[in-house]
Amino acid sequence: MLTKTFNDLENFKQRRLMLNRLAPNAAFILFAGEEGHLDTFRPQSSFVYLTGFEEPSAVAVVRTGETPEFHLFVRPNDAVAETWDGHRWGLEKAKQEFGPNQSHSIDDLETQLPELLRGADKIYFALGAQVEDDNIVIAARDRAQQLDRRSGRPKAAICDPNEVLAEMRMVKDDLEIELLRESCELSAKAHIAAMKASRPGLNEKQILATLLFHFYNENASREGYCSIVASGANACTLHYRANRRDMKDGDLLLIDAGAEKNYFTADITRTFPVNGHFTEPQKKLYEAVLDVQKSLIAMVKPGSSLPELHEKSCELLTEKMILLGLLSGSVADNIESKKYQKYYPHGIGHFLGMDVHDVGFSKKNGKPHPFVPGVVITVEPGLYVPEDDDSAPAELRGLGVRIEDDVLITSNGSEVLTALVPKEVAELEAIIGQSAST
Ligand code: GLY
Ligand code: MN
Ligand code: MN
Repeated sequence: MLTKTFNDLENFKQRRLMLNRLAPNAAFILFAGEEGHLDTFRPQSSFVYLTGFEEPSAVAVVRTGETPEFHLFVRPNDAVAETWDGHRWGLEKAKQEFGPNQSHSIDDLETQLPELLRGADKIYFALGAQVEDDNIVIAARDRAQQLDRRSGRPKAAICDPNEVLAEMRMVKDDLEIELLRESCELSAKAHIAAMKASRPGLNEKQILATLLFHFYNENASREGYCSIVASGANACTLHYRANRRDMKDGDLLLIDAGAEKNYFTADITRTFPVNGHFTEPQKKLYEAVLDVQKSLIAMVKPGSSLPELHEKSCELLTEKMILLGLLSGSVADNIESKKYQKYYPHGIGHFLGMDVHDVGFSKKNGKPHPFVPGVVITVEPGLYVPEDDDSAPAELRGLGVRIEDDVLITSNGSEVLTALVPKEVAELEAIIGQSAST
């Protein structure tokens, strides 16, 4: 049983200390991000990962080296602003609660930053997100070099923080796995509720409402990404987000949705018949994808990699496309000519964690980067037959199927974190519509 929780200050401290080992004599600068007007705010993942601080307009500076330091720039207390937008920790409390060596007002970032960067060999900062932030950091880097000009030290290089942080975030520790497991379980329950609620005549929005009710009822923080509730041919639009069509008898429904809790998100897709019965063509297409997904999950283990899984997914799905009459000729020719991409246009999956498309390396130095225990990926093959595809068998036109599970690499193989959600045809047919009112 884990005794640590997400909010345990020690987690953040240990992560900052780890930077010391991975990037000696450097400065990491992380911006939390800004709050939009009437928007909910979610800090940038790497900022929270290193600080645990959840307010907007904050900046963390972590200095590694012989005397590691952590500085936190925060919004000062302001009674009027807090009346409108809520509590702020302020400088003193932020120092007490989050453990920086020093807290500063965010208004002093430009004047204080050069001093904090002096002597660093490298500055890790994500250029390109906000031009104003880029300008502050570049000016501070130049000023820091001027302050030390007699030493002959060149300007510090500005490097992508993900060179270091992706390495750390890609491999989840026990606590992170526990948190991800919790998000997967609560998202799985929401998918099951959506299956039970499904029936012809409902609008996609009503299924979305079921998902969201279960997310928030289980204390999720937010959707991990914009939920996709795609009935009928909408399932062929990979990032369908309108979610407002009336579902018809005989439709398939593709739901791609996951909740975020404690800054970790699930990412689950299921496809099932709205009325609880697969037609023969729907079943053929569905079972083709399911078969491929199971074969791929069986390949996930330490040493395998995302490029290897993707290559295999292309081969297996192309075989199925030929069997289904979508393509003709050989598997090799269809892969060579990329014809398979008409029906399988996306990748097999991605790293999963604090972000739905989480940081991580699928390749390094041009070579597939092998999985190690603690990495979490999605496995999400799909086949999508456009409605107007005259070359496809008529019975398959307008059908889209994707099946997506979240898979943890373990020391001896893998564990499917989303196994709670049914995906066998018989299981689905038994559960769909169970709680639909008549
Ligand atoms: N939900 C986004 C994805 O499956 O990658
Ligand atoms: Mn995904
Ligand atoms: Mn997804």
